[in-house]
Amino acid sequence: MRLAGKVALVTGGGSGLGRAMCIRFAEEGASVLVTDIHLEAAQETVSLGQGLPGKLVSRFQDVCDEATWPETLAYAESELGPLSILVNNAGIAVTASVEHETLEGWRKTQAVNLDAVFMGTQAGILAMKGRGGSIINLSSIEGIIGEPLTAAYNASKGGVRIFTKSAALWCCREKYGIRVNSIHPGFIETPMVINGLAQLSDEERAVMDAQLQMAIPMGEMGRPEDIANAALFLASDESRYMTGAELVVDGGYTAH
Ligand SMILES: NC(=O)c1ccc[n+]([C@@H]2O[C@H](COP(=O)([O-])OP(=O)(O)OC[C@H]3O[C@@H](n4cnc5c(N)ncnc54)[C@H](O)[C@@H]3O)[C@@H](O)[C@H]2O)c1
Repeated sequence: MRLAGKVALVTGGGSGLGRAMCIRFAEEGASVLVTDIHLEAAQETVSLGQGLPGKLVSRFQDVCDEATWPETLAYAESELGPLSILVNNAGIAVTASVEHETLEGWRKTQAVNLDAVFMGTQAGILAMKGRGGSIINLSSIEGIIGEPLTAAYNASKGGVRIFTKSAALWCCREKYGIRVNSIHPGFIETPMVINGLAQLSDEERAVMDAQLQMAIPMGEMGRPEDIANAALFLASDESRYMTGAELVVDGGYTAH
């Protein structure tokens, strides 16, 4: 019960990493508001978590819509109590090189992956300042190293990485008691990665498969639970001395 008495909001909690975090948090006693642009997916996460020590509640949220932030945080507080953990997890990945990306596509990626993390962090600070808490932003190894086929995604996740440090320092300066950290998953088997690989041509896919085999020193993709456990650590008081940190969970991908 490492999160007993805590209240969490996880965006994009209807799939992949977000879902795994919601379940893991509830296993450890947290009450969790699961939001997603696909309400049915968020509701499914709640069903999957039935019987766990922590209560799970779902709500529709498009993280790009600024108006949803105060509404969602007010709902979390009224249903579950004062917020202490916010995970800005919702994200999209579109495969396109710098030559093939469109301005529209670029802006869409920044809107979901970066602008929404800014809005969520700002809203989370407003809700938790004085009382303290943990904000966890999902970056990626793609926020540290470049890939030729993910120009907009690379830019968005690099933005999340350094924005997180700025927010962390501000919260220290203002003595808000809020820690802000980023998680940098490598290749984890979720619908995002599986669907992303499916967008590639057969030739690109074969190159990517071979590169992944070579590039992941541990020799396999990670599981959603691997990231959920990292998020659990950052959400809990066990990480009380960590802020502005980047937690890499990538099977060694960025070690060389
Ligand atoms: N899977 C990986 O290998 C990997 C690696 C590095 C980083 N990440 C990051 O982790 C996060 C989760 O990725 P995942 O693999 O679980 O993806 P996923 O596609 O399985 O899940 C993403 C969830 O976000 C939701 N979502 C998308 N746009 C939204 C919006 N505007 N408002 C609210 N919800 C929205 C989707 O409906 C979905 O439920 C993302 O930020 C992603 O960039 C994933």
